Amino acid sequence: MTTNTVLDTKVMGHRGAALLAPENTLSSIRAAAKAGATWVEIDVYLIAEGGLVIFHDDTLERCTDGAGETRLALPAEVAKLDAGGYFSAEFAGEKVPTLLEALECIQSLGLGLNLEIKHDGADVENIVPAVMAALREHWQDNDKLIISSFNHSALLLCYEIADGRHLAQLYEAIPENWQTELANIGAYSLNCDYSLLTKEQAQAVKAAGYKLLCYTANDADSVTDHWDWGMDAVITDDPNKFAAMMVG
Ligand code: G3P
Ligand code: MG
Repeated sequence: MTTNTVLDTKVMGHRGAALLAPENTLSSIRAAAKAGATWVEIDVYLIAEGGLVIFHDDTLERCTDGAGETRLALPAEVAKLDAGGYFSAEFAGEKVPTLLEALECIQSLGLGLNLEIKHDGADVENIVPAVMAALREHWQDNDKLIISSFNHSALLLCYEIADGRHLAQLYEAIPENWQTELANIGAYSLNCDYSLLTKEQAQAVKAAGYKLLCYTANDADSVTDHWDWGMDAVITDDPNKFAAMMVG
């Protein structure tokens, strides 16, 4: 277990900074940095031809001017999509970044990365080795990287491939078997929905030696108790709301 490593942030921008710029775009990553966040969470998705892009949804409609299932989209088609116009005219023409473009951007800004592996079930055995290989080549600093997923099978596969990366099991509400699942992946952290977390659960996670990260809180008041319970970092669409936590 690698839980003794210091996590050098209390605030991670969610999907970059999804309230400040179109989510999961390079502009969103830059907006998070500009707002003072030193880490970002983004989602990585496997599309056709083995392409890896930064995208959240199983379909293209909500965040682009395209349509259809994300997993079936060709990289050349995705590269042409407008992933910013839906957000505001200011961001019209914004692209869906590839994983490599995002890694380059994040490192050039000196940020840490919480990379969430998305999946549609059948793709776990394809996306995990591809993501791990890309990271092996393009991301060296283990202390500035957390790989997270809701999918326990994906994390087991990450753990097998290992590379000493920090792994985070994502949950909405924490299930009863969380200790087994975290042990099975040599977890670094448990990441869960702040609104479903109880004080007792938070304290148990911390007592077991794991980092505790909570998503997606967009005002400071909503997680006042969580800091007292031992939450290590908040994942937020608007890092500006947590400016007080970024001081010092
Ligand atoms: O990693 C925290 C959060 O991103 C998980 O939920 O659906 O926003 O990817 P989602
Ligand atoms: Mg996510």
